[in-house]
This record gives sequence, C-alpha cells and structure tokens, in this order.
Amino acid sequence: MMPSKSRDVATDVVRRAVEDAVWAPSVHNTQPWRFGVGGARISLRADPDRRLDVADPDGREMLISCGAALYNLRLSLRVQGFEPVVRLLPDPDRPHLLADVHAEPLRERAGEVAEREYAQIRRRRSHRGGFRPDPVAAGVLSALRHAAEQEGGRLVQAVDANVKGALAALTAAAEHVQRRTSAYATEIARWAPAPATARRDGVQQGAYPRQTPRTEPHFPARDFARGQGWGVEPSTDDAVRTGAVVLLVTADDTPAAWLNAGQALQRVLLRAAEHDLAAAYHTQALQVPELRAFVRTRFCGDAYPQMLLRLGVPDGEDLTTVRRPVDEVLTEEN
Ligand SMILES: Cc1cc2nc3c(=O)[nH]c(=O)nc-3n(C[C@H](O)[C@H](O)[C@H](O)COP(=O)(O)O)c2cc1C
Repeated sequence: MMPSKSRDVATDVVRRAVEDAVWAPSVHNTQPWRFGVGGARISLRADPDRRLDVADPDGREMLISCGAALYNLRLSLRVQGFEPVVRLLPDPDRPHLLADVHAEPLRERAGEVAEREYAQIRRRRSHRGGFRPDPVAAGVLSALRHAAEQEGGRLVQAVDANVKGALAALTAAAEHVQRRTSAYATEIARWAPAPATARRDGVQQGAYPRQTPRTEPHFPARDFARGQGWGVEPSTDDAVRTGAVVLLVTADDTPAAWLNAGQALQRVLLRAAEHDLAAAYHTQALQVPELRAFVRTRFCGDAYPQMLLRLGVPDGEDLTTVRRPVDEVLTEEN
C-alpha cells in the first residue's frame, strides 16, 4: 500500500494507525494512552488516571504499555506507506507527552517482514496458563532477541533450572505479598471487573483460566478472579509446560528506557505470534522494589529488568480481550 497524493493523511491513515495502536498489551488492560491527531502528526500521551498508583507509582509499566502502543502505531504507518518520524519525550515540561510522530511518505514499500508482523497485531493475545511441550526453537529465540535489540532492549533467557526456579519462587513471593496487602488487592479488583460488565478495559473473565494448570517450575498467576470461580474452563491436557522464561532488560531505568522496553516488548510479541507463540507475563516481582533490585543484581548483570515472560505455544483454551472504542482515546488537534 503506497500513499497517493489525493489521500488525506489525517483522516484515514492516521485513524487506522491509532486503531492498530490500541491493540497493544497494557498492564491490567488499563489502556493508559491518549492520541492527538492533526494533519500528518500524531501525539501519544500517557493517561495518568489509568496508572496503577499502588503497583506502579512511577508509571514504569504505564510507559511500557504506551511504548508497545507506539510500536504498533509505527508499524501501521509503515505498512500504509508512511515513515514514522518519532521524537520521544519531546518536551521536558510535559512529561505525559510521550512521543510526537510525524508521518512522511515512504519512498519504497515497507516490505514483507513488516507486513507479516503487522498481520499479528490483532491476533496476538496474552496467555495465562501452561504451554504445550514443544520447545521454542533456538532459531526463533534468536530472532526474538534480535527484535528486542532493534528497539534498544535485550532478552535474557533463564536456561539454568535453578535460575528458572528462583524466578518462579520470587514471583510466588511477590504474589503472596500483593495478596496480603489490601491496597494492591483493591487495585487489582478495580481492573478485574465481574462477569457481564459493559466495560471495555480491564482483565475480564474471558481472559484467564478458572484454574491455572501447574507447571514445573510454577509461576503463579495473578488473582483476577478473587476466589469467585470466574474464568474460562481450563484445558484438560495435563502435560503442560512452563515454556521459555525470559527477562526483557534495558541498560537504563528512565522514562525513555521504559518506552523503548515497551516497543521492544511489542516487536518481540508480534514476532513470536508469527510462530504461533504467545507470552504469559509475570510482573509481580518487578512491582515489589526489593525483589526487582534482587532480580536485577542476581540475574540481569545489573541491567534493569522491565518484564518477565514465559513464551510457548498456548495449550487449549481460547482467551479473549477487550478494547475501548478508538473515539474514547483519540482527539483531533490543530
Ligand atoms: C507492562 C505490562 C505488565 C503486565 N503484567 C501482567 C501480569 O503480571 N500478569 C498478567 O496476567 N498479565 C500481565 N500483562 C498482560 C495484560 O494483562 C494484557 O496485555 C491485557 O490484559 C490486554 O490483553 P491482551 O494482551 O490479550 O491484548 C501485562 C502487560 C504489560 C504491558
């Protein structure tokens, strides 16, 4: 798809890019973003009313989520024939203005690699269970590592059984701490609405299994159902596996690094989806500052851990997700 002179960049291309952007993952499906569009420009802003004040007071995960949306936006513009020229955090006096994007006509087609990645934007889903026994091929893992590096991140795989065991145990410790701290529990409840809700955000009952199958080592899931028995009937296959355990890390721990981590995350996830792989996220330990510092010094060579993921081919149940309509997040600007 190449741009034609007669086409108005503002109305169709830019709107479609925003429609694609919102299919990014976001912590607890908070969708903490807003887009301003005017001519060939798109601004991306964080929506601090949607930040998790308890689990994410610095907005680190909010910016990772917005970075993932920014990656989709860039990819969408490219396959529509436009080069996204991005300025990250363009105004130090407006920290919630995360990026200014200018769409300029591309001289040549975006190419098949971008088209294949683009095709995954709406197919990609978070997974919250075990994975099939098939290992993730070494070639695929190295493609995912490359994808992370292209966006300024790095994927560190936990191969050693003791390292995997330690990360699983730290996840369990963080989950226990969060369950017994009422402020965390209240915050989860705000973002995990009861079934039959009309909301188009949050982690809803179609998005997680009723019971999480046990894997070895076991990475506990978050308590979205809060003991109410909500969730999708789990798959009956008991031969499920943990999958490949990876940490996404960055050299710095600044807002720009968080945005890059989000872009790296989304590039990795789309690449993974091309191979029918999905990710299960376990960010509990990274939300508890003491545990995050421990993960950093012990397992990341002093780089900053931004995400902890398990990757594999999902087993069984089809999980669903929701998004707010684009008009709720898009404002026309002049
Ligand atoms: C920064 C970040 C942290 C996340 N942490 C978790 C987590 O700890 N547990 C979990 O089940 N999902 C986690 N997720 C996945 C979101 O819940 C998911 O993206 C959202 O519900 C939308 O669903 P989708 O990814 O299937 O589109 C995280 C996503 C992001 C971007």
